[in-house]
Amino acid sequence: MIVFEDVSKIYHIGDAEVHALDHASINIEDGEFVSIVGPSGSGKSTMMNIIGCLDVADSGRYLLDGMPIEDYSESELAKIRSKKIGFIFQNFNLIGNLTAEENVELPMIYQKVPREERKKRVEEALERVQLGARKKHKPNELSGGQQQRVAIARAIASRPSLFLADEPTGNLDSATGKEIMKLFHELHEQGNTIVLITHDESVAEQASRSIHILDGKVLDDAGTFAGRKKVRL
Ligand SMILES: Nc1ncnc2c1ncn2[C@@H]1O[C@H](COP(=O)(O)OP(=O)(O)O)[C@@H](O)[C@H]1O
Ligand SMILES: [Mg+2]
Repeated sequence: MIVFEDVSKIYHIGDAEVHALDHASINIEDGEFVSIVGPSGSGKSTMMNIIGCLDVADSGRYLLDGMPIEDYSESELAKIRSKKIGFIFQNFNLIGNLTAEENVELPMIYQKVPREERKKRVEEALERVQLGARKKHKPNELSGGQQQRVAIARAIASRPSLFLADEPTGNLDSATGKEIMKLFHELHEQGNTIVLITHDESVAEQASRSIHILDGKVLDDAGTFAGRKKVRL
């Protein structure tokens, strides 16, 4: 479903070149729960942005559902970004002056989901993350973990099949992080694909498989939960 073949991405800062991704090859199947793990600056967010069609590679190929990304039209890509993929970020990216339910509803307004259907999905999604009782609260009236659950509900409501999460537990204490990870496990059990990006090995190893990345290079794209390959960074 997600295939990188020798993907490179180079940033130019003045005369210097940063190889954010350096001939990276990965293969993620439908329904997998994969973590992409590496230290700060290793290229994880660059990889997520390309997977999420928010950025494009400088060289190499990205095949999504068997088709090279450049063969999709702009409107198809927009649809993939808004409907197929649920994005979850470290900083939650909620809109501060909207309530939890309004935050969850907003993307569906852009997607032109009919009002009644929207309201139904908002209810369901907030129940799903156990925040039904907090739907009238604004982000600053919620804890970090609750805000992240609103962000996950917002992703769920659009019914994506792929959840792309960049350091989703990075701003949370470990107990709250575990609750968030439990939600990802539940979403995985329901058949969704989960790609979790983290610098934290203890978070990464909760996925069924880890892809290690260092200096833009993929170190390990093998091993299942049963036979994990450990790569020392
Ligand atoms: N927009 C950008 N302009 C210049 N350099 C960038 C940009 N984005 C990322 N980089 C550089 O690319 C490398 C990989 O960054 P990133 O993908 O954000 O890593 P990570 O998410 O693993 O911390 C880093 O050296 C970073 O400084
Ligand atoms: Mg990052």
